[in-house]
Amino acid sequence: MKPIEITKGIYNVGVNDWNISDFHGYSTPYGTTYNAYLVTDEKIVLIDTVKSEFTDELIYNISQVVDPKNIDLVISNHTEMDHSGGLARVMHRIGEDKPLYCSKMGLKNLPRHFRQKWNYKAVENGEDLSIGQRTLTFLETRMIHWPDSMFTYLKEDKILFSSDGFGQHYAGHEKFDDQVSEDIMIHAQKYFANILLLYSSHIRKLLENITELGLEFKIICPDHGIIWRKDPAKIIEAYVKWCRQEPKKKAIVVYDTMWHSTEKMANAIASGISDEGIEVRPMYLRKWHRSDIMTEVLDTKAIVIGSPTLNNGLFPTVSDFLTYMKGLKPQNKFGAAFGSYGWSGEAVKLIQKELEAMKFEMLEPGFRIQYVPDDEGLDECYQFGRRIGKAISG
Ligand code: FEO
Repeated sequence: MKPIEITKGIYNVGVNDWNISDFHGYSTPYGTTYNAYLVTDEKIVLIDTVKSEFTDELIYNISQVVDPKNIDLVISNHTEMDHSGGLARVMHRIGEDKPLYCSKMGLKNLPRHFRQKWNYKAVENGEDLSIGQRTLTFLETRMIHWPDSMFTYLKEDKILFSSDGFGQHYAGHEKFDDQVSEDIMIHAQKYFANILLLYSSHIRKLLENITELGLEFKIICPDHGIIWRKDPAKIIEAYVKWCRQEPKKKAIVVYDTMWHSTEKMANAIASGISDEGIEVRPMYLRKWHRSDIMTEVLDTKAIVIGSPTLNNGLFPTVSDFLTYMKGLKPQNKFGAAFGSYGWSGEAVKLIQKELEAMKFEMLEPGFRIQYVPDDEGLDECYQFGRRIGKAISG
């Protein structure tokens, strides 16, 4: 990727990672980007780096704008290694004594990653740094996405360098929001649902603080995906909505199956929900990746989960999904459980227990059918779905 000039003297010198397909458990069929930003003023500033294996490319990109040795200071907005992986080689190249700005938590976390005594400068929330004609303001944004996360705001140009905030795992030839279709919002929603959902309350407070401070954003530059320059308000408004976790009148039926019995139950339940006029999608766990299901969970009211009983427990894919969803702490959900079983039939109770632990409002007692559902059993599933649909309708 060539350096992309965002506005006069400010460049994205990051890289595309076309081939990554799994980002710590999140499926990334479109790859991702690690954006890093070069701000050239009286001082030359590098904001973030890239994953370590892309460091040569980062340094090459920088060198197309300035000699990397002329970088005066580095800002680490976030310690996670998709943004800090290139730091050791960058610091070595530009001079180990150059200042490395980070948050107070960054000061703790960076040495735990790199075991280096760099010239760290821990900043306060709201602290300004003049770099010549321009001023950078540091904004503490704990847990968006790690305790060390911060944003950097360029006052004069009204540009927000937002680290993981407002990102998308999407690599393409397009670099700006005016070059992509509406589909980019699906990538942004997936990113929010899988990376940031459990920090919704932090994000809500941050957005309120931004409003109180009266900060204006002409351009938002995240560390992943496209840059928002045409309509930055669009992604802010989406975050305001997603943080509230106000679901649509919608259900998903997430299941796995051994001999198609739980599958038949899932389809009959979905049919019952649909016949109440509710949007519904059965999601077979060996077809849908957990992270794509989470994207649906974000705006779904009822999560209905089905599992056969395998060796007195849950089917492994169902267990995997429940563990993943539990960690992301979705709120304001209805839940229900079902499944086919042979003799012991523990799975349905185990699903219920997990959904209750997530504070889902359970709509129905768990529903089980032994072995293969007959017509009467499928009608019971359908009626189970109708009742769920009615509850969603309110
Ligand atoms: Fe893109 Fe939390 O790192």
